[in-house]
Amino acid sequence: MKKILCKTYDDMSRQAAQLIIDQIHAKPDSVLGLATGSSPIGMYQALIEAYKAGTVDFSKAKSFNLDEYYPIAPDNDQSYHYFMQEHLFRHINLSESHIPDGTAADVDRECTAYDKMIAEAGGIDLQVLGIGPNGHIGFNEPDDALFAGTHKTGLTQKTIQANARFFASIDDVPKMAITMGMGNILKAKKIVLLITGKNKTEVAEAIFNGKITCDLPASFLQLHPDTTVLIDENIYQ
Ligand code: GLP
Repeated sequence: MKKILCKTYDDMSRQAAQLIIDQIHAKPDSVLGLATGSSPIGMYQALIEAYKAGTVDFSKAKSFNLDEYYPIAPDNDQSYHYFMQEHLFRHINLSESHIPDGTAADVDRECTAYDKMIAEAGGIDLQVLGIGPNGHIGFNEPDDALFAGTHKTGLTQKTIQANARFFASIDDVPKMAITMGMGNILKAKKIVLLITGKNKTEVAEAIFNGKITCDLPASFLQLHPDTTVLIDENIYQ
């Protein structure tokens, strides 16, 4: 994994945005894997600026998001559908954007269909990731075993607590989610992982320590041939 220390959150965001812009310039019909959370918000802002300045055109590109809470309606302001509309999709011109359906009645069918759509799109060219303080990527939480494909999962208490800051009360945080699996993520041709936030100092060290374990899902990124980890240096202060 290539580790890049960035002076500020803004610096991290701009470097990440540039990697996406370079990807689109190299392959205009790229398939992007996108993430939610506070980590990529600055990157999305930089992409919107670049699009408005005419330096990048997403009209041939598609996107697939990592995950969505379950159950949740797309117009709920805490849903990842809502987040992506607000922070990216309504500002740029992606040809298609997909997010797992947090209202699906038949979740297994939704998961199979999501994996099929990714495969039919030719697989993910560049996957953006944030990381949970417990090392989760997407909603692949530490567990005895991890899933390869898109699946429904329970959220750990630590994740529910970490994400409660966005909800009126911790009781409102959904207890489940639909997430791409580790196989979906590791099959991406390139991965860009963003690490910011003071609660990430330990996890930012642990993912480089050479051990790969289901207790730390992001440690599997050490197996991937083209992962860039952009770290906001402020996590160490
Ligand atoms: C959520 C998302 C993850 C994200 C993580 C970190 O749980 N499912 O994809 O990486 O939060 O969020 P943040 O960037 O806000 O720290």
